[in-house]
This record gives sequence, structure tokens and C-alpha cells, in this order.
Amino acid sequence: MNQFWWLIYPYLSVTVLIVGSLYRYAFNPMSWGSRSSELLEKRQLRWGSQLFHWGLLLVIVGHVMGLLIPVSVYQAIGISHDMYHTNADILGGMAGLITWIGLLILLIRRLGNRRIRTNSSVSDIVALILLFIVVSLGDSMTLIYNNVVGPYGYRHTIGPWVRGLLVLHPDVALMSHVPVLFQIHIILAFLLFALLPFTRLVHIWSLPLAYLRRTPIQYRSRQQYRRHPS
Ligand code: HEM
Repeated sequence: MNQFWWLIYPYLSVTVLIVGSLYRYAFNPMSWGSRSSELLEKRQLRWGSQLFHWGLLLVIVGHVMGLLIPVSVYQAIGISHDMYHTNADILGGMAGLITWIGLLILLIRRLGNRRIRTNSSVSDIVALILLFIVVSLGDSMTLIYNNVVGPYGYRHTIGPWVRGLLVLHPDVALMSHVPVLFQIHIILAFLLFALLPFTRLVHIWSLPLAYLRRTPIQYRSRQQYRRHPS
């Protein structure tokens, strides 16, 4: 089983992510996008989406710092184990909570608002629920496990395993004694990666950089236009 979950499954997931995204882009380009529902409801979306996206950006920075940068680099620049974990707990915990609150608002909006629910596909709901579970598990690792059971040294197990995956030489044994909570978080994260091409989450590949350079478009409400038609 270890070979499957920590060797075959991650590569399978990333293969589906890449091939599935390319396939959809090439053969179904009109379906590509975030399928914004802003026209149907704005207030909850503004809060939920801002909190979720900014929180997630910080969570991604935290994952890079904890998993991709080896402990030896921190030691070389004088950041001790305790210093790292205190900061990771506080900053990572806050980032995780912001992401979680944003997702909760988006979930309540999607399932609770009749207009949004009617306009949602199964994949919209599955993606949101899976994101919510992955983030809830991540938060319970950082905020609950680390404070109740004690800080888990993922930088000595999960970190080197992830870096091994990137250079196509993962050490499966590193993952066999990782706490189950952490294992489920990672397995569901890879499931999310594999499902991504079949959901609205494909929009992560489309950074709207042209947006920054394009000529501004001005939108005015019809009432305002009637008052000042110039
Ligand atoms: C290869 C995939 C992933 C791995 C190996 C991984 C691993 C980890 C680890 C080791 C932690 C730290 C737990 C601690 O503080 O003790 C963590 C926390 C967390 N993860 Fe992940 N994770 C992955 C993907 C994801 C994804 C895709 C998301 C969200 C969409 C996510 C959301 C979170 C959150 C919200 C936290 C708690 C806040 C934080 O510490 O930043 N993770 N994850």
C-alpha cells in the first residue's frame, strides 16, 4: 500500500492534472474559466473570495517554506527549530484560518443561495467541498495536532519526500510513519490536483496578466448614465 499512496498515486494525480488540463484547453476551450457567479450574488462572494484567495496565497508560501526549503538552510541562517515552529504555528495558523473562513462563506453561499445553487454544476460543489476538507485537515494539523499531541517534525519526513517527488526519486519509507491525519491531508490534496482539470479550478492556470496592461474599461450604472449622459 505504501508504494501505491506515496509513489504511484502522486505521479498519477499530477499526470491527470497536466494531461487533463492540456486536453481541456485544446478540445474544449470555451469551457475554460472560473465561471464567475458574481452577477448572481456579490456581497458574500466579495468577502469569501478575497479571504480565501489571499489566505491560500499565504498557505502556499508556508508550504514552500516548510516542505521545499531543507532544514539545513534554516540552520545555516540561524533559524532554530523552535523559532521556525513558533512562527509557522502563528503565521501558518492565521493564514489557514483566513482561508478556512473564506471557504466557509463560499460554501454557505453556494449551497444556501438558491440562485447560485441552481446555477452550480456537480463539479463546482465537489471542488468546493474537497477544498474545504483539505483546508480543514491542514488547519487541524497546525492548530490542533501540534498543540495537543505536540509539534510534528514534517520537515524531516514529508519535506524530503516532497522534494524527492520533484526530482523523480521519492523515498517512500519516509511517509510510512507520518501521522494518519497528515497522510489523509496529503492524499486528498493529490485527489484535488487530479480533479482540477474537470472543474472551474482550471482558472489557476490563467493568470490575467494582460489585465494589468489593457486599456481600462469604464462601467457605469444605467441610472448614473441617465443623470450624466456625456
Ligand atoms: C502535496 C500536497 C500537500 C502537502 C504535502 C501538504 C502538507 C502540509 C503540511 C506538512 C502542513 C503543516 C502542518 C503543521 O503545521 O504541522 C500543512 C498545512 C496546511 N495545508 Fe497542506 N499540504 C499539501 C497540499 C495542500 C493543499 C492543496 C491545500 C489547500 C488547498 C493545503 C492546505 C493546508 C492548510 C490550510 C494548512 C494549515 C495552515 C498552514 O500550516 O499553512 N495543503 N500541509
